[in-house]
Amino acid sequence: MALTQAFSYRNGQLFCEDIPLAGLADQFGTPCYVYSKNAILRNFHTFRTAFEAVDPLICYAVKANSNLSILRLLKEEGSGFDVVSAGELYRLKKIGGDPKRIVFSGVGKTVEELEMALQMSLFSLNVESLEELETLIDLAEHKDVRQDISIRLNPDVDTTTHPYVATGFRRHKFGLDVNHVEKIIGLLRQSSHLHLVGLGFHIGSQILNVQPFLDAFLKLKGLVAEFETLGFVIEHLDLGGGIGIPYQDETEPDLNRYAEFVKEHRGEYRIVLEPGRFITGNTAVLLNKILYHKVNYEKHFLIVDGAMNDLLRPSLYQAYHEVLPLEQKEGSIRADVVGPVCETGDFFAHDRLLPLLKQGDYLAIMNAGAYGFVAASNYNSRPRAAEILVDGDRPQVVRTRETFQDLIRGEQ
Ligand code: LLP
Repeated sequence: MALTQAFSYRNGQLFCEDIPLAGLADQFGTPCYVYSKNAILRNFHTFRTAFEAVDPLICYAVKANSNLSILRLLKEEGSGFDVVSAGELYRLKKIGGDPKRIVFSGVGKTVEELEMALQMSLFSLNVESLEELETLIDLAEHKDVRQDISIRLNPDVDTTTHPYVATGFRRHKFGLDVNHVEKIIGLLRQSSHLHLVGLGFHIGSQILNVQPFLDAFLKLKGLVAEFETLGFVIEHLDLGGGIGIPYQDETEPDLNRYAEFVKEHRGEYRIVLEPGRFITGNTAVLLNKILYHKVNYEKHFLIVDGAMNDLLRPSLYQAYHEVLPLEQKEGSIRADVVGPVCETGDFFAHDRLLPLLKQGDYLAIMNAGAYGFVAASNYNSRPRAAEILVDGDRPQVVRTRETFQDLIRGEQ
């Protein structure tokens, strides 16, 4: 069960912290994301505590959930940030994020994005290709600015996760081929503006077995030695993100083993970590109302008002998300939970055993806090959902539901 300290049943009602979710659905409408502020804080503290002995720079991966209120919350807790676009940098500017705690990753940064990053003088720009390095060398020279950089290497390790989110194997588009060290160094020697201070990797997402992180870490250490023999002084190692969370009945990853290993092998290097899902994944639900219960041939469908445009993960990765009623019910039904979008791929659950729910009932899609709202779209001209942040018994709208006006903004 995806129930946590933040989401639990009290007298048959599903609560977020101290508020019954059905009340929020009545008040703010559905579909609607509801976050637990204290769950976000707890996850951040759990992560920080696990790695305490390493004293890492934790750079929360903004892509997992970029709502300004959530970013502000994490900033206040001392988190740094990992961004992958100018848009994410813009968000951090808005909340007054400290540039010296921001790393910029990404396989395809545009010239405009590189310029914005150089102007902000970030902690590190994580470079992912030889051509990006050349472009950055030219830009830094042209603007006469000094910038610390890190090279993201592709450590060629395989991971057990969905193929769309594995990133550290040799055939993936991410990171630099470890056989290109000489070329990288050749380019860096031409630049007096770029300073290589870090090496890193990000091997994928939703990884539950920590062994591939350990393998990648040892490979990275080997490469650090190569760079250092050639006269570079590496200060930090960026181990990316990727720690998975249980969505169904998976075992939680052994963070302590990972942290212990890093502590043992890191030497004097500063460690940078970029967790996303671990911080926000289990901190939200997507509330839906059942529009219709339809029985076609032998199949039952619960047609809800949320859809793949609100939460894409089931459609894109066949991801499992638990579905829970906001009010506990007797009886059971085996049904597909589907949205109104005109695609067979628009579903939240297939053949799921659920309590006997009916038209007008609410249900929650659990663990929707990471890669949920951020990947929402207006497909089928559906306004994007509202987002509510709950603190104890206080709900706060942290993003209002989009209007029809929002849908056509900028169109002629
Ligand atoms: N750092 C880099 C460079 C990344 O590309 C990512 C995620 C992270 C950190 C954070 O990874 P996390 O700790 O959240 O696993 N939409 C997919 C996940 C895509 C992950 C992309 N990169 C999903 O819904 O499962």
